[in-house]
Amino acid sequence: MKIAVTGGSGRIGRFVLRELLEHGHEPVNVDLAAPAERICRTAIADLTDLGEVYGALQGADAVLHLAGVNAPGKLSPEKLFRLNSLSTYQVLEAAAGLGISRVAAASSESIYGWCFARHRFAPQHAPVDESHPLLPQESYGLSKIAGEQAMAMFHRRTGMQAVALRFGHVPLPEEYEWLSRHEGAERFLWSHVDSRDAAAACRLAVEADGLGFEAVNVTADDTCSLVPNEQLAARFYPSLLEFARSGPPHAAWSSNAKAKRLLGWQPRRSWR
Ligand SMILES: NC(=O)c1ccc[n+]([C@@H]2O[C@H](COP(=O)([O-])OP(=O)(O)OC[C@H]3O[C@@H](n4cnc5c(N)ncnc54)[C@H](O)[C@@H]3O)[C@@H](O)[C@H]2O)c1
Repeated sequence: MKIAVTGGSGRIGRFVLRELLEHGHEPVNVDLAAPAERICRTAIADLTDLGEVYGALQGADAVLHLAGVNAPGKLSPEKLFRLNSLSTYQVLEAAAGLGISRVAAASSESIYGWCFARHRFAPQHAPVDESHPLLPQESYGLSKIAGEQAMAMFHRRTGMQAVALRFGHVPLPEEYEWLSRHEGAERFLWSHVDSRDAAAACRLAVEADGLGFEAVNVTADDTCSLVPNEQLAARFYPSLLEFARSGPPHAAWSSNAKAKRLLGWQPRRSWR
């Protein structure tokens, strides 16, 4: 397929372009910025401008939408919300107008709320699956809700397949040593996914057939901590002690079962 990849110059996007090329697809990078390494065609476009989005997506069979701001604090909250939600809307609007029937977009586990919460709270249950309430306290998480809702709406309007990929933290391979020592990883429940595994989930989400709107957690099978879950729960999340005691000592606190079931995805690389 000819696949437009927005944000292909970014951290995750560069792995996605490579993954698509390795699997016989024809990716086109759509980004404001030129890539560090040129491995396919890049269309420079600002996704907040609908005309530019139409131009950039023309001729694509599918869209992988990764562009945006990837964490709070990089822009003022209202600008971040505007950029992330508007660009997702424009990509979907143009895809619908151009008759593109397969879209997948980067959402985030931050959508559940605890990661960037001002007032800290524990998940209501673990492992955290996609049924967990979405409780963000800041505009990044809110922009991901807006994006997912826009995907659901365009699915209702056009029948397009729209898959929201709720990534855990996506470290680069060279960041693995840092990750295991990272103070504050309790904020994201020690949830992570290898960048190449994240890229495979992106590919599978547009190769899949017959899905409607779906949101899936894209997370590794294990935590990014050397400390066993029972100790982590005792210190940070006492209300989840039962979960922590019930499985293997480093089992992930997020469930990736839906991504495995719907996409045939399997995380293959472990930082360990
Ligand atoms: N990196 C993570 O750990 C992580 C975790 C969860 C979710 N995500 C999500 O995954 C996606 C990709 O994240 P990333 O870490 O690769 O981000 P990144 O910041 O490395 O890359 C984002 C890319 O989007 C481009 N971009 C920004 N605004 C644009 C615009 N208006 N028009 C066109 N291009 C624009 C940037 O130039 C950049 O190349 C984001 O949606 C992010 O929210 C990332």
